[in-house]
Amino acid sequence: MASDYKTDDEILGKAYDAKLMRRLLAYVKPYKGYILAAILLSILVAALGPVRPYLTKIAIDDHITHGNYRGVILVTMLLFATLILQSVIQYFLTYYTQLLGQRTILDLRTQLFRHTQKLAVRFYDKTPIGRLVTRLTNDVESLNELFSSGIIMVFSDVFIIVWILIFMFSMDWELSLVSLSVLPLLIYGTFLFRKKVRETYREVRLHIARLNSYMQEHITGMFVVQIFNKEKAEFKNFSSVNEDHKKANIDSIFYYAVFFPSVEFVSSLAIALIIWYGGGEIVQNKMTLGVLFAFIQFTEMFFRPIRDLSEKYNILQTAMASSERIFKLLDNNTIIEEAENPVIPASLKGEIEFKNVWFAYNGEDHVLKNISFKIEPGQTYAIVGATGAGKTSIINILTRFYDINKGEILLDGINIKDLGKTVINKNIAIVLQDVFLFSGTVEANISMNNENITPEVIRRSAGAVGAAAFIEALPGAYSYMVKERGATLSVGQKQLISFARALAHDPKILILDEATSSVDTETEILIQNAIKKLLTGRTSIVIAHRLSTIQNADKILVLHKGEIKEAGTHQELLANRGIYYKLYQLQYKDQEIGA
Ligand code: CTP
Ligand code: MG
Repeated sequence: MASDYKTDDEILGKAYDAKLMRRLLAYVKPYKGYILAAILLSILVAALGPVRPYLTKIAIDDHITHGNYRGVILVTMLLFATLILQSVIQYFLTYYTQLLGQRTILDLRTQLFRHTQKLAVRFYDKTPIGRLVTRLTNDVESLNELFSSGIIMVFSDVFIIVWILIFMFSMDWELSLVSLSVLPLLIYGTFLFRKKVRETYREVRLHIARLNSYMQEHITGMFVVQIFNKEKAEFKNFSSVNEDHKKANIDSIFYYAVFFPSVEFVSSLAIALIIWYGGGEIVQNKMTLGVLFAFIQFTEMFFRPIRDLSEKYNILQTAMASSERIFKLLDNNTIIEEAENPVIPASLKGEIEFKNVWFAYNGEDHVLKNISFKIEPGQTYAIVGATGAGKTSIINILTRFYDINKGEILLDGINIKDLGKTVINKNIAIVLQDVFLFSGTVEANISMNNENITPEVIRRSAGAVGAAAFIEALPGAYSYMVKERGATLSVGQKQLISFARALAHDPKILILDEATSSVDTETEILIQNAIKKLLTGRTSIVIAHRLSTIQNADKILVLHKGEIKEAGTHQELLANRGIYYKLYQLQYKDQEIGA
């Protein structure tokens, strides 16, 4: 899956794929009315086009050459009327097609966002964020062009071409053949152009993808780049990626720059042929001047949609590639399944039981092996172990961020797979190693916009965990705007806010992945008191790095390479002189002085 995603931006695909198209068309289905209106309008616009050259012919042949001034005025007024009518219809046409495009992509984007919300953590482990953002922005946007102008304009272009041909042949079939004699040249040119553009299109896409992922990684890691003085080197790398991107674009611009003047040339050639042949006919009195004029206009009208059709081809091609990527994301069902008839108890006591649980992030590569333990309501369990032992993984599976491979996890004796997801989310609060704050006020970050959490509760919780003092010192206090990820707050402050968040939600079960980073003594005391406050009266699992938390735990589980090797109270484990004893000697001993 991961490698699939890597090549996503390089998908070129077919220029037209019936299966994809059918799926895309399903999105415009709700707007059948708009489509019908737009097609009708586009046919009208197309139909009005050849009327003007025809009127020109009548003006010249029937009135100008006969000195009929009134007739000239009449035809001029008719011409003017058709022009106005055409403009009005064009206005509605543009309006409705754009409306159609915008409505459809709104639907699509909504569906995509809903889907990303459902996707499991496992999916996000393997998908670069930048790619996802591209799916929801650029890719969706490129479909807009297809929906708004692409599909319907193709109709009108084809219709115009047919309509002009009918007019031309009914007026003078010989002259029609003369003006169409350049067509093979045009068709060949268009064919060549499409082929070349397709090749360069792939190059451009590839380089955009490279540029994007380079930028994404380096902006995220800017801090590291600066600290290691890597700006110059990284700038050089960036410049070369940027340069390649420019080259690819210039290649593609070259073909456009050649193609459009070529079409212009061929159409002028056709006009020259018409003047040469038609002029001869007029001299011999076999043809009227009006027909010659009309044909010159017909030819110009005829070439425009042909040129546009090759542009439509590019829109189609881009849309096909984008939709392929979008559908791939929509079809990804790395989703944690909700039980068919989920059990939704009114309240939980908070009993947690793991029964022979096995878990792997990948295949059979188990990071947790045969884990069993039972926590009575209100008890505090501490989990200790070396880095990578599987501590965070235990939390990940208890909250169903990931589903386990074997065994059972029970809450109040009910398998969590049978419990409604809302039950799990409502009853378990997690305070993680790295605190995530959203952009918004401090207040909103504590309440998480839960309406049941009143400003009083927010203030009481902040007070209880000892966060009130520093929050009130912030400009605007509780309405202080936290920047994205809480960049303007210190680590300790973020911790305290997240404690207030957990306390305000008053969960039955609390999970705490203690931060390893050390804070100053004053904040440390604050945090220790906050933790004590948080743990009382609820079932808790604490991944502990603080001796104070560990000593007060009802039981300590010692995790080693995914297995529980020892379990007991602090004193029991010390007396045991096993792994915990060694860990304690290494890791916690010196804390006693500070704590
Ligand atoms: N792991 C993984 N995929 C993830 C997360 C973790 O393959 N998405 C692996 C890690 O490489 C590690 C093992 O799972 O080998 C256990 O990871 P974890 O439970 O996060 O370890 P902790 O005990 O929490 O380690 P730390 O003290 O560093 O937080
Ligand atoms: Mg961890």
